Amino acid sequence: MARGRSLFLCLALALLAGCAPGGPIIQETDGAAEIPAENLIAITFDDGPRRETTERLLDGLLERGVPATFFLIGRQIAGSEDLIQRMAAEGHQIGSHTWSHVRLLGVSQDTLRDEVGRTQAALEELLGPGDYWLRPPYGAVDEADRTLIQVPMIKWSIDPRDWESLDAEKVKAAVLKDARPGQIILLHDIYDSSVDAALSIVDALKAEGYRFVTVEELLQSGGIQPEAGVLYCSADG
Ligand code: NI
Repeated sequence: MARGRSLFLCLALALLAGCAPGGPIIQETDGAAEIPAENLIAITFDDGPRRETTERLLDGLLERGVPATFFLIGRQIAGSEDLIQRMAAEGHQIGSHTWSHVRLLGVSQDTLRDEVGRTQAALEELLGPGDYWLRPPYGAVDEADRTLIQVPMIKWSIDPRDWESLDAEKVKAAVLKDARPGQIILLHDIYDSSVDAALSIVDALKAEGYRFVTVEELLQSGGIQPEAGVLYCSADG
């Protein structure tokens, strides 16, 4: 019952958000390290970096050998270069959350280009050339503007609204209730309670047999070839 309802909500959300449908989850078969794709899940963090909390999160993820995906606010890059280089060195995926966390719905195309372009340039300067995927703030971008986005866009499929409760136990319970293979969890690494929740969620889901991967790896495991300007919510839709 609960599973059916959450599937329905996810599908409804995907339709509203215009998420791209993915293929079936397939099994990775590259070499000896064969991973049952049905156990994969991704944890993502928005609105950072924030030294006081992000550093502790990185310590906890390193201790657990768990990669995550970080969508950074461009104007917060300066002063946290060492943290971001550490993220990259420790195998986390790094993406953009626009320069100043603007809602992209309804903004001018110049603003959109500026918000996305400045962040991309700052990340390239710090980490080198690459595709820094975009998570649009509030998960939305105008349909007509999608052609301006040069990278794949990532939404989420599990949102415990950690910023609202600031309660690690509630956040953990909300995520565990909805956790399913192929899903993308949304948290914010700017709150102590969310760091506590994240590490506790990682421990609980690992104990259940889940394996954490980056968003890019998760989509690959679902047989998805991510395309620029397309919004993805999970490995299956
Ligand atoms: Ni945000």
